[in-house]
Amino acid sequence: MTGQRLTRLAPAKINLGLEVIGRRSDGYHDIATIMQTVSLFDTISVEPAETLTLSTDLQGVDDAGNLVLTAARDLATRLDREPNVRIELQKGIPVASGLGGASSDAATTLQLLSELWSSHLPEDALNEVAAQLGSDVPFFLHGGTAFVSGRGERMQPLTNLSPCWFVIATPVVDIERKTATLYGQLQAGDFSSGAAIAGLAGLIDAGQLPEVERLTNSFCRPLYELRPKLRAIPDAFRDAGAPGVALSGAGPSHFTLVLQRKDAEQIAGRLRQRLGATATVYVAARHVP
Ligand code: C5P
Repeated sequence: MTGQRLTRLAPAKINLGLEVIGRRSDGYHDIATIMQTVSLFDTISVEPAETLTLSTDLQGVDDAGNLVLTAARDLATRLDREPNVRIELQKGIPVASGLGGASSDAATTLQLLSELWSSHLPEDALNEVAAQLGSDVPFFLHGGTAFVSGRGERMQPLTNLSPCWFVIATPVVDIERKTATLYGQLQAGDFSSGAAIAGLAGLIDAGQLPEVERLTNSFCRPLYELRPKLRAIPDAFRDAGAPGVALSGAGPSHFTLVLQRKDAEQIAGRLRQRLGATATVYVAARHVP
């Protein structure tokens, strides 16, 4: 079958601070975080086909692949049609890294298929399909800079972050069912009110860049207790001259933020020397969709 082929980039995100507020009765946790899309991308293409298939440059079908296929099936069900489409996924975002790759892929698939199938699903309905796929998926339908709350599915756009650069280090670490495992490790002392993130949202809306050293993340304690070797990552950032270091999502990616690309490249070069094969280091700009 021949037909229209559509391609779109799926950006990664970083969390500018993340507060877990507490456990909910439905098994999830309430959170407050600021999400920012960054210029590190997966690429997704879709075209009409006889059946639903996915090809990817990853070995086997991982979480991202599964979520892409589920997104196609869920949207087709919602539109009362067959999900007959060939999907191609090229990964540029490291998997299970705290950079939201799988969620971004799912959201981008929903957008591509909405276009391919000329769906006129209202925004609310598409958001609902997205939220069912995963807590972070609705954010990626919009991207940019947003205050994110609830279990992660509620988002309020903020003024775009001022132009800046991120140096991101993604250590090689295998934690089975990482997100659920880390949420499961949280203790009462890791919870906070969300006030710090609310304050940060006000600052960003007023056009100020956050100080990276002040970006706290509730997952730091459980992550370093689960994988003590990861304490070397913030040390390496400081040794490399970073102005501070923060954790993205439930980790294991860490990042710093600087104004100039040349400073980012310099820190990244030193980090690559220090971390060697234990981590992959990326330089990315803040991404405005
Ligand atoms: O929503 P998502 O599928 O990404 O969540 C994976 C798991 O992480 C959930 O099953 C839940 O155990 C945990 N989670 C949570 N609170 C959230 C988001 C995720 O407890 N806000």
